[in-house]
This record gives sequence, C-alpha cells and structure tokens, in this order.
Amino acid sequence: MKVTKAQKIGQKVDPQSLGFGKVFSDHMYLQSFKEGSWQEGEIVPYQNLPLDPAAAVYHYAQCLFEGQKAYWGVDQKIRLFRPDFHSNRMEAGAARMCMPFPGQEQMHEALSELVLIDSDWIPRQKGCSLYLRPTLFASEPFLGVRPAKEYIYMIIASPVGAYYAEGFNPVRIWVEPHYSRSAPGGLGSVKAGANYAMSLMASDSAKKRGYSQVLWLDPLDKDRIEEVGTMNVFFRFKDHVATPALNGSILNGATRDCVLHLLKKWNIRSEERVVRVSEIKAAQKQGDLLEVFGTGTAAVISSVGTLGFEDQEMKIGDGSTGELSKKLFNAITSIQYGESEDSFGWTKILR
Ligand SMILES: Cc1ncc(COP(=O)(O)O)c(C=O)c1O
Repeated sequence: MKVTKAQKIGQKVDPQSLGFGKVFSDHMYLQSFKEGSWQEGEIVPYQNLPLDPAAAVYHYAQCLFEGQKAYWGVDQKIRLFRPDFHSNRMEAGAARMCMPFPGQEQMHEALSELVLIDSDWIPRQKGCSLYLRPTLFASEPFLGVRPAKEYIYMIIASPVGAYYAEGFNPVRIWVEPHYSRSAPGGLGSVKAGANYAMSLMASDSAKKRGYSQVLWLDPLDKDRIEEVGTMNVFFRFKDHVATPALNGSILNGATRDCVLHLLKKWNIRSEERVVRVSEIKAAQKQGDLLEVFGTGTAAVISSVGTLGFEDQEMKIGDGSTGELSKKLFNAITSIQYGESEDSFGWTKILR
C-alpha cells in the first residue's frame, strides 16, 4: 500500500477535552472506484477532497459508513474491536446501497495500516479510543437517479474521549410518537447516511423537551420498539432480557451481538423478539421491568433512567444504572482494553 507521510503533525489534544469526532489524526486512507474497478488504495495526509458539485452523493445521498474503534490496552497492545463484524456489515450495506465494495481483506489492511501509522493518536487513558470511520460514497458527477459509476472509499480516524467522563449516569429518553427513522423495506438495517438525516428532527425536538434521545417505534402502529437514538435497545425483565429482533429496519449492532453472547455465557435467558410499548408499560406497572439500556460502539452501554410519553413519564427501576448494565459495560470494556481474556475472539491485536 502506498503511503505518503504528512509533513505537518497535528497537535494532540488533552483527553479530557477530546469529546467525540472533533479532532482528526494526521493521515487517512483513500481509494477510488472508476471504470468498473477499484484503483490502488493509499494512505495520505488528512486532507480535503476535491469533489465535483454534481457528485451524486451531494444530491441523492448514496453514502454508507462504519463506526468502529482501536484501543490502547493496559498491556500497551493496540487492539481493533470486532473488525470482522464491521467489515461484514459494510459489505452487506454496500450491496443494499447498490455500491461496489473494495473487499473485507482490503478494509482490514487499510484499517490496520492507518491505525499503526497514526498510533500516537490513540489516547492511552481507559475509556478513550481512536474512533475509525470507513466511508463509501458516490463521487460520479451525474444528476440522473441511478447507482453511480464512480465512488470514493476512505477511512478517517478521530481520537475520542471517555463517554462517561462524568460517571455512568442514566439518560432520559423520549418515546417518539410521530417521526420515524426507517420503514419496512427501507435502509434502517444499514449504516446509510440518509438514516441519520431522517433522525435529526426527532432528536432535536426530544432535546427541546429535556430528553437526550428518542426511542424509535415502528412507523406503522407506533407500538413495536426498534432502537434508542443511535443504539440498539435491551429490556431486562425479572426472568429474562429482551431486545427487538432484527426485522430489516433495525441496525445489527456489534455491541448488541456482544451483549447477546455475554448473556448466553452467563446463562441469562435472552430473547430477540417483538417488544411492544404496551408490554413495557404493563411490566413497569407490575414492577417487572428492572433495566432498560442502549448498546453501541460510542457508549458501549447506556442506561435509560426515564422514558417520557405524551401522557406520562416512567421511571425505570429506581432511576439509577442497573447491575446488569454495569456488568455488561465492565465485561466488554475489559476485553477492549486487554484487561481480561478475549474468549470470543472479538479483538484483533495490531501490535
Ligand atoms: C442506528 C444505530 N443503531 C445501532 C447502533 C449500534 O451499533 P454498534 O454496536 O455496531 O455500534 C448504531 C451505532 O453504530 C447506530 O447508528
């Protein structure tokens, strides 16, 4: 792989003030697709991309991305988390978006090269990581509506701070009665940029109401629960844990998959099925609903303390972070930072 080193090395930022997605490393991976084939990929200094104003992505949103992380372990080793899961998901997403994909091997090689060349950008503190954003988009300058004939595949890297710098606090979630993020037969199961555009108005109005995110319901009956914000969602009842089954409009999360594996290992009954708002309301009334939490790469586990409806506000458990949420968070993060054995083979050590 061709590598062009950056002349100027960026200023590292104090992990306390990193936040999410604001700072970028010195290099990026770039590969283009033209005349029916992928050109050779290369690592180049982080830079602006020259794009024709007619590039299809600007007009018809033919764009897909991934979100994954590299961690600096307590043993000083660098680990990628679930690289196979992410490359599988991106390949499937590209097919759904009528885009070519450079291949999983190529994606792994590009990620490894980029992380190693920018390894100084991986924050050393536990909780922090190097967020990796592989992105594939249509670059052909053409205004007709059809799959484009030219694409750019790139990977950028962003050091990110600890999600729970101020403690593992439960969040307030608005149960969204009106807006939808996806629909049967739509793009909900892939990481298409368009899904996130679709979600903005709902999360904005939830924030104005004093909630941090929305609980997405099915677009037809507004009763079947789908996801929470940009996370998958789990419900812990007295005798089992349930999460909405993948139905084509829910993203198959890497963290969701980790949680399902851990629950199985710990002999906790888990069900992937339809979970209805009506069931949750009834379970909460009977004291049967113990925990609600979201799962995703950014936060790992995010505990839900309150669900807000148009006619009521519902406290989950005693409103504090539940014991299963904490146990799952600790189990997953200790594998990510090399503190406990990776018996599932979820990590790839780069160095
Ligand atoms: C819509 C949506 N659902 C779920 C997830 C969680 O997926 P993962 O655990 O792979 O990060 C994400 C975040 O990536 C997301 O954007």
